[in-house]
Amino acid sequence: MISLAGGIPAPDLIDTEGLEAATCHAIKSAPDNIYQYGLTEGERFLREEIASHMVAQGICVEPDHILVTTGSQQALDIVARTFLDEGDSVLVEEPTYLAALQVFDMAGANTIAFQVDQHGIDFTRLESLAAKRRIKLMYLVPNFSNPTGRTLPLAERMDLVEFAIRHDILIVEDDPYGDLRYDGDHVASLFKIAEQSFNSKHRVIYISSFSKTLAPGLRLGWCIPPESYFHPLCRAKQSMDLHSSTLSQYIAGYYLKSGRLDNRLKLLKKAYKSRRDALIKAIAEHLPGTLELNVPEGGMFLWGRFSNGLDASLVLKQALSHNVMFVPGKYFYSGTPDLSSIRLSFSTITPSLADEAVKRLAIAIQKTEQLQAQE
Ligand SMILES: Cc1ncc(COP(=O)(O)O)c(C=O)c1O
Repeated sequence: MISLAGGIPAPDLIDTEGLEAATCHAIKSAPDNIYQYGLTEGERFLREEIASHMVAQGICVEPDHILVTTGSQQALDIVARTFLDEGDSVLVEEPTYLAALQVFDMAGANTIAFQVDQHGIDFTRLESLAAKRRIKLMYLVPNFSNPTGRTLPLAERMDLVEFAIRHDILIVEDDPYGDLRYDGDHVASLFKIAEQSFNSKHRVIYISSFSKTLAPGLRLGWCIPPESYFHPLCRAKQSMDLHSSTLSQYIAGYYLKSGRLDNRLKLLKKAYKSRRDALIKAIAEHLPGTLELNVPEGGMFLWGRFSNGLDASLVLKQALSHNVMFVPGKYFYSGTPDLSSIRLSFSTITPSLADEAVKRLAIAIQKTEQLQAQE
């Protein structure tokens, strides 16, 4: 089976050697700590390392203002538990990250979707949505979004922050892919824009993760909330798991301290860029005119739609019997889905595998078309 489905880091690109060294270091240097209960907000040592790491994203933050979480998924969950009541409205891009939709749903919130197409965000529609109801949160994945790979341009970020301030909406900026940019220039985070351009320190909760750059098995993410929200969020986390794994935090902390992350990021960016390009090339070769593709500047996902309107779920059925899989795009919609959309992950597809993956996909598409013609 060749999988274009998962949004996982490539197993061959995880720095197992560096993580092993960091693990040994943690076990030898901090045995009194790593096996013990820890602080809910996270180990000071790791929070200091994360604060230094955030400087590269243009975010200057005190370690005390960083809340370590059990993956960024937990950060989304504690935000939802803290701020949302049954029936509250949350604005989300359409399509968006499936597990965020699940979190908002579990909190009893209503997700209100706004479309983002090739022309960008329709702000007239956004205004009319906000005019009809009180919106509490706005959830955004501004860099190389899951599933569309799209990056919000600076002008849209500025307009979104201004919109949120005007309607008193709290922005949740989910940024697990921000370190994985292959082309183009860094775009300032919503967190920074709110602070620097609008002098607003209470508007954005920034969330990120080590899952895509280090190892998802560590289950470590972090959250930088406005100062006044830190303790409520910390209390919500405490009720969920007391604290994130102390051992994982020391491993990540020693890994960052060793200085290996910069080189690892260079290697990841080079490898993922070539995987992305190989998949795009194979699609152009074997599926000319079949898929309208979004080409992302980073991250892990290509987003496409069948230009002839083919139902992606029917294609998936055929694809599975030809040992290739992907995710139909419909799962990422909170409203009416585009049934012909698909998400293709390139992170685990080496350039030598891309051709074979797309050839199998091409056969599955052909079979689906034949079956449809017979009906
Ligand atoms: C946009 C987005 N947010 C959050 C997560 C959760 O990641 P983790 O909990 O591993 O940090 C993912 C994982 O795929 C994601 O794509």
